[in-house]
Amino acid sequence: MEVMKVLHMNKGDGETSYANNSAVQGKIITTAKPVIEEAILGILCETFPESIGIADLGCSSGPNSLLVISEIIDIIHAKCRNLGRPSPEFRVSLNDLPGNDFNSIFESLPAFFKKQKQEKGIGFGRCYISGVAGSFYDRLFPDKSLHFVHSSSSLHWLSQVPPALESNATPAALNKGKIYISKSSPQCVLDAYSLQFQNNFLIFLKSRAAEMIAGGRMVLSLMGRRSIDPTTEESCYQWELLAQALMSLVTEFVSNLNKDNFGFR
Ligand SMILES: C[S@@+](CC[C@H](N)C(=O)[O-])C[C@H]1O[C@@H](n2cnc3c(N)ncnc32)[C@H](O)[C@@H]1O
Repeated sequence: MEVMKVLHMNKGDGETSYANNSAVQGKIITTAKPVIEEAILGILCETFPESIGIADLGCSSGPNSLLVISEIIDIIHAKCRNLGRPSPEFRVSLNDLPGNDFNSIFESLPAFFKKQKQEKGIGFGRCYISGVAGSFYDRLFPDKSLHFVHSSSSLHWLSQVPPALESNATPAALNKGKIYISKSSPQCVLDAYSLQFQNNFLIFLKSRAAEMIAGGRMVLSLMGRRSIDPTTEESCYQWELLAQALMSLVTEFVSNLNKDNFGFR
């Protein structure tokens, strides 16, 4: 199954939308701010571009999409003010898969620009924000066009279910009832996910290497674990719960189907 064709966070701003259920991811962005700041100041130490290319990969929709951008702009603006220099022009690209709710981001842009101008006054540099639909496991931007790349809570998504687990061959059967790596998964399941991650991450790095200028910086925040064992509770607890919930839905569905069939006969 190709993730790119089916994946999107819940759209809009309703009760179950991503916009209303992404406070934890927002906290991750805020926690990473010192790392983002160090990276950006590193760029500005080496070169002071008149126009700075920034990309957020896996931006989703809701408050977090523009939270990270405003953090980045704040850092650059504060540095420019300290140095008595004008702010550079900001070329900001918000990337996600084509099914992402880009419309709701675009709708929030006027309020975002208004706030930036109110806070920063005439010192606020020109800022162009665009949406880029496509997979970050592919080329997304022209050669050497980006100074800073950011991605948070997104790179744990693989481009596809590892092929070895999709076929009807033995490994799929061995991981029966599980949707990811779990305590009962055999080694071949762990190997299949590891290989898929390596292949994806290599393409990700090669693509960004071509798109970034020399001396550019990248900050990637993604889930990690303290143990090298991916089957500890810390690593797979949430997947176990999700698998149980899905299995119980399937069981309920099958039992309703059987009841319907019985009634029909
Ligand atoms: C959990 S959300 C994180 C959103 C935002 N960065 C945040 O911190 O709230 C993960 C996002 O990554 C996107 N994503 C997953 N795989 C992707 C890919 N291959 N290319 C681009 N975006 C992807 C998803 O569509 C989703 O919007």
